[in-house]
Amino acid sequence: MSIGTLKMTGNVLRMVLTLLLLASISQGIHGVELFHYEKMKAVVGQNVSLPCTLKSATDNKIVSIEWSKETNKNTKLGLYSQFYGIHLFWQNITIQIEKNGTDVLGSHLKLSDVKKWDEGIYVCDMATFPAGSRQVKTQLIIKDDIKITCDVNGTVEVHNGENVTIRCTSFPNAQYTWTKNDELLSETESLELWWVTDADAGVYTLTVNTGSKSVRKEFVVTVQPQV
Ligand SMILES: *[C@@H]1O[C@H](CO)[C@@H](O)[C@H](O)[C@H]1NC(C)=O
Ligand SMILES: *[C@@H]1O[C@H](CO)[C@@H](O)[C@H](O)[C@H]1NC(C)=O
Ligand SMILES: *[C@@H]1O[C@H](CO)[C@@H](O)[C@H](O)[C@H]1NC(C)=O
Ligand SMILES: *[C@@H]1O[C@H](CO)[C@@H](O)[C@H](O)[C@H]1NC(C)=O
Ligand SMILES: *[C@@H]1O[C@H](CO)[C@@H](O)[C@H](O)[C@H]1NC(C)=O
Repeated sequence: MSIGTLKMTGNVLRMVLTLLLLASISQGIHGVELFHYEKMKAVVGQNVSLPCTLKSATDNKIVSIEWSKETNKNTKLGLYSQFYGIHLFWQNITIQIEKNGTDVLGSHLKLSDVKKWDEGIYVCDMATFPAGSRQVKTQLIIKDDIKITCDVNGTVEVHNGENVTIRCTSFPNAQYTWTKNDELLSETESLELWWVTDADAGVYTLTVNTGSKSVRKEFVVTVQPQV
């Protein structure tokens, strides 16, 4: 009796597993995956572009795309329809349609000169044929200002012939420039100096630019005789 029950439970489990497997396989064949960011950070004053596009080439056609913002009730921002074009519910946003030839691949929601109150969750609902509709969400976080964090502060001592790296991180999608005496050295987050000589001593400046804001941080590199 109990063996029978066990057997049946086993069969039921197997059936459920098979169904789950079928479900994931059929999604693999007919499914549509969307490219988007789960989280995005911006600084006050920046222009922001949120992508919602097909991840890979597919036979599915995009019928419509709706952008909305999650508030206590969903607020519609704009709509794209294959037949009727673009309709904006808010005039302070734009919807850019991405195409490959005549195939629509998706859209970008563009917010310009963002403010703190633009923070929130933006929802992209895409209706495709024949796969049906998909929804993705992007959380937009707006920072008041840019902070630069580095593994050293102020003065960096290095011995002649050694290498030195100043590792910094700041804002994603920002532009980094390292300069010394107004001469451009590098456009990466971190500064690397190899085989340091006396000529490398001096003041190095890291500038982080987000388009709307720019912040600088200075480092003094001193070169000691070889040990
Ligand atoms: C764009 O179209 C070309 C030609 O139809 C195709 O080979 C390519 O895969 C498409 N690219 C994307 C990203 O869909
Ligand atoms: C954009 O416009 C809508 C209404 O048209 C308004 O409610 C919203 O506050 C505006 N957003 C910004 C950032 O100005
Ligand atoms: C650099 O200075 C900041 C603020 O003065 C401090 O919070 C941070 O810990 C320092 N970092 C290092 C690597 O000393
Ligand atoms: C400095 O970096 C270069 C290039 O990566 C490497 O060949 C060299 O060994 C390094 N020198 C020291 C002292 O670490
Ligand atoms: C943001 O976009 C507007 C046009 O929509 C442009 O005039 C402005 O320079 C852009 N701002 C930044 C910081 O890129």
